[in-house]
Amino acid sequence: MKHNILVIGGTGKTGRRVVERLTKQEHHVTVGSRKGTPAFDWEDHSTFAPALKGMNRAYIVYYPDLAVPGAKEAISALTEAAVKAGLEKVVLLSGKGETEAEACEKIVANSGLNYTLVRASWFNQNFSEGPFLDFVLAGQVALPMPEAEIPFVDVDDIADVVTKVLVDDSYNGETITVTGPEKLTFEQAVKILAQGIGREIQYIPISIEEFKGGMKAAGLPDSYVWLFGYLFKEVLGNPHNQEISHDVEKVLGRRATSFEEYTQKNIATGVWNQEVTV
Ligand SMILES: NC(=O)c1ccc[n+]([C@@H]2O[C@H](COP(=O)([O-])OP(=O)(O)OC[C@H]3O[C@@H](n4cnc5c(N)ncnc54)[C@H](OP(=O)(O)O)[C@@H]3O)[C@@H](O)[C@H]2O)c1
Repeated sequence: MKHNILVIGGTGKTGRRVVERLTKQEHHVTVGSRKGTPAFDWEDHSTFAPALKGMNRAYIVYYPDLAVPGAKEAISALTEAAVKAGLEKVVLLSGKGETEAEACEKIVANSGLNYTLVRASWFNQNFSEGPFLDFVLAGQVALPMPEAEIPFVDVDDIADVVTKVLVDDSYNGETITVTGPEKLTFEQAVKILAQGIGREIQYIPISIEEFKGGMKAAGLPDSYVWLFGYLFKEVLGNPHNQEISHDVEKVLGRRATSFEEYTQKNIATGVWNQEVTV
């Protein structure tokens, strides 16, 4: 059966890949984006109903993070609009080990819609499409929490899982935790990148306050600086969040992508050969 699916965040890291996969499967896909027609903007709840019109399923990626103030209200408004629009099912992308995000998960679970929650560990692609790319290009990755062991997950694996559970109702009501197959410290991850790319890239351990100071100096908004402080301290600082999950393998019937495999596939794209922008 072919569905009408709204992919919110459909221009972002996981959303773009989910759009590609669903389109290949010949579902009717609408990209939820501020640049879309109609536009979808988390900051303007009046955009929700027009974007949901005619849809029967949706993938929900909240930006910047379900832990930020305002997220609960936005998720409530979205699920209410989804019920009104007659959607059958939604899949919510959440963060593994984010207590604040769990409040948003509960809103989705209690909305009356069928749902699947996908809780993700930190993405590999933060080093190639996200906030750490410029550090890699500069050859100096200065990040806090040197002791944290992180089960980084590949967004291609998340997209495969999301695509499957969006159209397969046997996952209704389930929470799926997606991680990679191994735990790595930042230093170990940077070493794999440096060896793969064939360039010297140094990991420099710094404090969370130093990292936040750097973000402030770069002119990033206070809310963003707070969010990174929260993610480093609460998510990476909690040993429970350093556990590996085997849900990718259970859902997809194949092993999750390793950081080494991620590095190799991204070398081919040339992303790490760009000029430094910091
Ligand atoms: N990065 C990680 O390691 C990680 C780990 C676990 C969970 N997550 C979760 O993944 C989600 C996405 O995070 P990300 O940083 O990787 O972002 P992302 O998916 O790469 O990209 C951001 C997306 O959000 C959209 N967006 C930005 N502001 C918006 C607004 N006001 N209204 C509507 N759409 C907006 C952008 O669309 P347009 O610009 O086209 O409007 C774009 O599609 C977050 O909920 C985060 O908690 C991330």
